[in-house]
Amino acid sequence: MNYRHAFHAGNFADLVKHACLTAALAEMTAAGPPLQVIDTHAGAGLYDLGGEDARRTAEAERGVYALLADRSAPAVFAPLKGQIAKLNGKGDPRLYPGSPLLVAAALRKADTLLACELRPEEAGRLRVALKQSRGAEVVIADGFTLASRVKTGQPTLVLIDPPFERGDDYDQIVRTTAAVLRRNRGAVIMAWTPLKDLETFDAYLRGLEAIRPPQTLVIEARLRPLDDPMRLNGCALVVVNPPPGLEPAARSACDWVVAKLGSSGGQARVWGL
Ligand SMILES: C[S@@+](CC[C@H](N)C(=O)[O-])C[C@H]1O[C@@H](n2cnc3c(N)ncnc32)[C@H](O)[C@@H]1O
Repeated sequence: MNYRHAFHAGNFADLVKHACLTAALAEMTAAGPPLQVIDTHAGAGLYDLGGEDARRTAEAERGVYALLADRSAPAVFAPLKGQIAKLNGKGDPRLYPGSPLLVAAALRKADTLLACELRPEEAGRLRVALKQSRGAEVVIADGFTLASRVKTGQPTLVLIDPPFERGDDYDQIVRTTAAVLRRNRGAVIMAWTPLKDLETFDAYLRGLEAIRPPQTLVIEARLRPLDDPMRLNGCALVVVNPPPGLEPAARSACDWVVAKLGSSGGQARVWGL
């Protein structure tokens, strides 16, 4: 278990994931009964883009720094930009929020967040980052297992964002999606995957189709053609029970990411499974 998100924070994939996450949260907290959010792979919550790890990969340069430099970037990024501004005040934008911080910022009084993180050091950092956030709890636990035990009968959003260090991460996403849906057919389940080669992604989608999920939206940002399986050629989010406004929001985020950060042969695709 070597993955540390600090190397990748604020990259193009975070922009797609965090723009779609905040768009879904805005709709799910606009009205209605309390929402429960389960972040299965929460990470540290707050990342220093000026720190050694982030500077070594410089992924934020071709990600959030490009976004902040573009005054005409679409409105779908406004909540993310707002949180970055709040964290950094008037200073240089060094601090970047991870998914649990973005969730915590969107919660209403009675909404809750259960953030699962397996690495104790990352969980410790996350507890510090969330200490002012009412309704947020951090547990050191396997997020797939915890999400599978989700309570029923309440609006629910499950974010699944594994590090893909293990060969069975795709299968685990499908199994967890099936388990969540058995307990709560209306749960919104948003799972992030890398896009390296088409065969791996197709096999994953076929696995999902086999469990017959309700309405499912596939959001793809391909930075370049998927012809080198050793590279991160793009990223995808597959969302079961997408809130109605997510499709146009996702399209807008992916179009911007591909146009500004992609290369020739890049493609934004948002489609129903
Ligand atoms: C991609 S990062 C999460 C980034 C975060 N979701 C965000 O958007 O800011 C994946 C995290 O999952 C943690 N992790 C790995 N396996 C896990 C598991 N089975 N359950 C919970 N956390 C896990 C890793 O330590 C890592 O911090």
